Amino acid sequence: MPAPRLRLGVNIDHIATVRNARGGELPDPVRGALIAIAAGADGITAHLREDRRHIRNEDIARLMLAISKPLNFEMAATEEMVGIAIATKPHGACLVPEKRSERTTEGGLDVIGGHDHVKGATAALKAAGIRVSLFIEPSREALQAARSIGAPVVELHTGAWCEAVMQGETDKAEHEFERIRLAAAQAESLGIECHAGHGLDFATARRIAGLPQIVELNIGHFLMGEALFVGLPAAIATMRAAMDEGRAGI
Ligand code: PXP
Repeated sequence: MPAPRLRLGVNIDHIATVRNARGGELPDPVRGALIAIAAGADGITAHLREDRRHIRNEDIARLMLAISKPLNFEMAATEEMVGIAIATKPHGACLVPEKRSERTTEGGLDVIGGHDHVKGATAALKAAGIRVSLFIEPSREALQAARSIGAPVVELHTGAWCEAVMQGETDKAEHEFERIRLAAAQAESLGIECHAGHGLDFATARRIAGLPQIVELNIGHFLMGEALFVGLPAAIATMRAAMDEGRAGI
């Protein structure tokens, strides 16, 4: 059976980071989302952090009104965020760990120690008709916990792999990629839809696209950085081509 088409979710958080560096309204992340969709994004991802350092509540509300593709609402499993998600009803919610001091999402959700808490948030979101994904480490234990929690989707954290690739640590990179490969296969055997993301660039996206069980990549920081030099449509077009080549085994 041919591998399914690999979807590209474009994370627009860092358009809001640039906006917030000056205050005011520009650049507008909603405009970025519309441009990303016109350029081929299959969905938009935005992370409403507790400290609102990039995306704000009104951005989420405006995105829901403006975009024609699914919104993947990244959020911590807190009472406040579950309430916002249920009131907003995005297509999907991706539960992520959140620490105030971190610069980005470091490591996957603690689905083992925090099992019951994550299970409660997952159940509340599912009951509201929101598709839930859990952002987890690519490990056997985390996949088992995701299943026991009842998550229909996981997103595998690719940060450790991408970092090792960037540092030229070949052995570590191969070890990390193997973990992702095994986790993607395990997700399929558990009947869990598999996504991946964090730190991906053209080369790593091309390679991970070769794993047929992965059906969606969520990519933000690298694309926005590229967009500064070549524009967002061109950056997305090159990413789409890299993903299609990787999928086709080119
Ligand atoms: N997926 C999840 C769950 C994330 O938290 C992030 C970072 O916000 C990404 C994907 C995108 O990572 P990056 O910005 O490094 O592409």
